[in-house]
This record gives sequence, structure tokens and C-alpha cells, in this order.
Amino acid sequence: SKGCKLVGCGSAVPNLQISNDDLAKMVDTSDEWISTRTGIRNRRVLTGNESLTGLAAEAALKALEMAQVDPDDVDLILLCTSTPEDLFGGAPQIQKALGCKGNPLAFDITAACSGFVLGLVSASCYIRGGGFKNVLVIGADSLSRYVDWTDRGTCILFGDAAGAVLVQACDSEEDGLFGFDLHSDGDGNRHLNAGIKENERNHESGTNGSVLAFPPNRSSFSCIKMNGTEVFRFAVSVVPQTIEASLAKAGLNSSDIDWLLLHQANKRIIDGVATRLEVPKDRVISNLENYGNTSAASIPLALDEAVRSGKVKQGQTIATAGFGAGLTWGSAILRW
Ligand code: ACO
Repeated sequence: SKGCKLVGCGSAVPNLQISNDDLAKMVDTSDEWISTRTGIRNRRVLTGNESLTGLAAEAALKALEMAQVDPDDVDLILLCTSTPEDLFGGAPQIQKALGCKGNPLAFDITAACSGFVLGLVSASCYIRGGGFKNVLVIGADSLSRYVDWTDRGTCILFGDAAGAVLVQACDSEEDGLFGFDLHSDGDGNRHLNAGIKENERNHESGTNGSVLAFPPNRSSFSCIKMNGTEVFRFAVSVVPQTIEASLAKAGLNSSDIDWLLLHQANKRIIDGVATRLEVPKDRVISNLENYGNTSAASIPLALDEAVRSGKVKQGQTIATAGFGAGLTWGSAILRW
């Protein structure tokens, strides 16, 4: 068996909903500005005793239920996240929460909003080259924990969520992932980052400038910093290119795809890419209005809603693409 197919999906979101009007009480903005510039109206934020691990496990369990696969039969868990609840990685805690008795390999993939596409492609490589059979790919992020809630340029954009798919080994005739294209550009990091805090690095001022300080201070990360215009420009230029590249590898044209499912960052980015690829609006999946940009969770969350509502049907072809911090971007052509 050298094929892999998507056999289940699931998602979970926190309870607290924050509307644009709620944000307008905190920063100088308005529902009108946010909805016309981004298409976002609401987002969910983790609070109280909720955890990202809990959301991720809930999404994964729903995917396993849909696939009718027992947690004990999972042999690999890929947690795509940039906001793990443990610096050493969050995936093993999901293995524990699911009670997987097979001790599946579990580790994190960190690539911000591209994380889920990288996870899907990684799952296919582990299946095709490594003999793995049931791979959980989970996209889960809580960017609300790293947003500067006084910065109106970024705090309006993000929300928290988790989404998951189960990717399973199958015969090559049934293969459901048939073309991908992935990229990074570290130089573009300056346009979108949440770096380690400068003032807590292992230095202190001496008479000759900066000298090594020991013992070092405990590190922490700064808030999300973004040049929105540059990120917007980057997205509308690279996303159509990467989808064209994946389609070419799959031997398809954009007219062959049933659904375009992009990372949900901004309605104007999604519309711009659809126009460039000549994909009609009624073939574009979007739920950005309700959840904002949920980073690695956005694609599996939107997929799960589209599958459960009956929009996406078995056998249909989906072009998906992630793009964001790193910078990273990439696409994959899937059959549901
Ligand atoms: N409310 C009201 N006014 C605002 C707000 C706000 N929330 N935010 C910015 N403004 C103001 C600015 O201060 C500026 O005012 P000025 O002209 O007086 O200076 C004006 O609105 C225009 O600002 P721009 O930044 O040029 O607005 P733009 O039309 O580019 O929209 C936006 C900003 C929505 C952030 C857009 O650039 C965008 O969506 N970029 C992509 C961002 C993105 O998707 N990032 C996530 C990538 S994925 C990941 O990995 C995290």
C-alpha cells in the first residue's frame, strides 16, 4: 500500500466568543472597519480551565470517531502548533489524553499558519516511506496568548481553535493526496514574528558594550509583531503560485478542483487568490467570519465544518494552501 487517504475529521473551539464590538471597547476600531478589511466578525478565545491540549484532543477524538478507528491503532500523532503548552512539545500530552495504548510516536511541527499543510504532507511521507498506518494530523493554536491586546493592527485578526484529520495508509488506487509544494523564506521573518525577548538574552551591558552574563535570565517571547501590508502582499502573490505548482504535479487545472480551501487569514486574501486562479466564489470554503485567523487550526476547522454540513462530499477534490509566519507557505491537492 503506497497510498494515503483522509478518513476522518474533527474540530473544537473555546466557549468564549469575542465580537468586533467587544474589541471596539478595548482599542480604537469598529465592527465596520474590521469586517470590511478582513471579513472577520467573531473569534473564540481560550479562558478559565480550558486548554489547547484539551481542544486538540477533542478534535482528534472526533476525527477518530468519524473514521471509526480506535485510539489504540494510531501510530503517529503530529501536532501542528506554534503555541504548545509545553516548550518541549505538546503532542505526547495528546497521546496521553487520548489514552493511545500503542504508544504512538507523537511530536510537534512548528510552522504557524502553514503548519497543517506541512503536517498533512509529513503524514503522507511517513505513511509512504515509513510504514505508518494511522496518522493523526492536528492543527491547534492559541495565538490569543501572544497577541498584544492593545495593538489594533493585530488583535482584531486572531482566534483560538483546534482541528484534526486522520490520514490512513491505503492502496495506491485510493490515494487521496496527489501533489504538494512547500516553501520557506527566513528573510521575510521581519514582517511577521514573535521572537525571543532581546532584553532577556544572555547579555548585560559592560564598559566595553555587551558581555556574556551568567547565569542567564529566564527567556520569554514577545507579542506577535506584523507588517500587515507586507504579509498581505506576500500572501496574494505566493498562494496562487504554490497552488498552480501543486496542481501541475497532480496533472490538474484549477477548473478540476471542487473546492478551494485556504488558510483563513483574511477575506480579501481568499477572494484575491480565488480570482487569480479563476475559481468561482461558490467553490470557495470559508468560515473566517466566525473564528478569525486560527493559525494552524484554520484549515482543518473549515474542512470539518464543510464535511459535517454536507458541503464537501466523498470523492471531491480540494486544493488547500497555508501561508504565514516563518515565512512559510505551501499547498496540497487532496481528495476527501
Ligand atoms: N481599526 C481601525 N483602524 C485600523 C485598524 C483597526 N483595527 N488597524 C489599522 N488601522 C488603521 C491604520 O492605523 C491605518 O491608519 P493610517 O492610514 O491613519 O495610518 C489604516 O487603518 C490603514 O492601515 P493598513 O495597515 O494599511 O490597513 P490594511 O488595509 O492593510 O489592513 C490588515 C490591515 C487587515 C491587517 C491587512 O493588512 C491584512 O489583513 N494583512 C494580512 C495580515 C494577515 O493575514 N496576517 C496573518 C498571516 S498568517 C500567520 O501566520 C499569523
